[in-house]
Amino acid sequence: IGQQAYYFDSIDSTQNQALKMAEDPANEGAVIIAARQTGGRGRSGRKWVSPKGGIWISIILQPEFDISITTLFPIASALALSLAIEKTFLIKPELKWPNDLTIKGKKLAGMLVDVSLESNKIENLVLGVGINFDVNVKQIEKSLKGTPNFYGVASLSEQNQKVKPIQLVQTFLLELEKIYKSLSAKQTKKIISEWTQRSSTIGKNVELNTVDGKIKGKAVKVDEDGALIVSDNNKTHKIIAGDIVHLSK
Ligand code: BTN
Repeated sequence: IGQQAYYFDSIDSTQNQALKMAEDPANEGAVIIAARQTGGRGRSGRKWVSPKGGIWISIILQPEFDISITTLFPIASALALSLAIEKTFLIKPELKWPNDLTIKGKKLAGMLVDVSLESNKIENLVLGVGINFDVNVKQIEKSLKGTPNFYGVASLSEQNQKVKPIQLVQTFLLELEKIYKSLSAKQTKKIISEWTQRSSTIGKNVELNTVDGKIKGKAVKVDEDGALIVSDNNKTHKIIAGDIVHLSK
């Protein structure tokens, strides 16, 4: 990962660029990085505000692992970023299911995974990572006001440390490579347990809207496939995707 790197001062979305480039098998492992995005994409079709000062990257992967493991990939990637931030900034972000990193409950980073399949095999996978490295929190919060499930913005610059963006990117790519190998070796238990240790979701009461109505209950654990298990008084729900809201302890 990261043997090839492409840098843009400004681009619509590194994710869109990476998806185009993923069609060429020679681009496996390539990293697309931009100083600024004009059409950054978030999960669930939301926009991702990407001014100068953030780290906006997409990584092209052609995983060998099984489709069943793909659902764990976002969680594993969030863990890799958390480990990288722990090593460089010496702080421990919290992990909010499925793949947000937060500081004091506010969003520091998010991940977006696009997978293309061919006859039930993963053809390629593009991981997009947005990190609020040194961004104007107030300004981003202003432009995101009213967005569903929005819960505030955090920036690493609030940590007042002299870490350079490139240091964090390099450390992250190394951690990602390690976790990617463990995934390929099906070492899923270790990944889930490390993720759970850092998670702010497990043990909380959470709420989410589904096509079948609202689910409200306690987040109990993350399953082998990355799904969140939520239990209310009479039922256990397995949540495969979606946006949860943390209610309370
Ligand atoms: C989320 O909604 O939490 C995911 C945000 C992902 C943002 C990153 S920034 C780099 C890459 N390019 C995009 O357009 N989106 C992802």
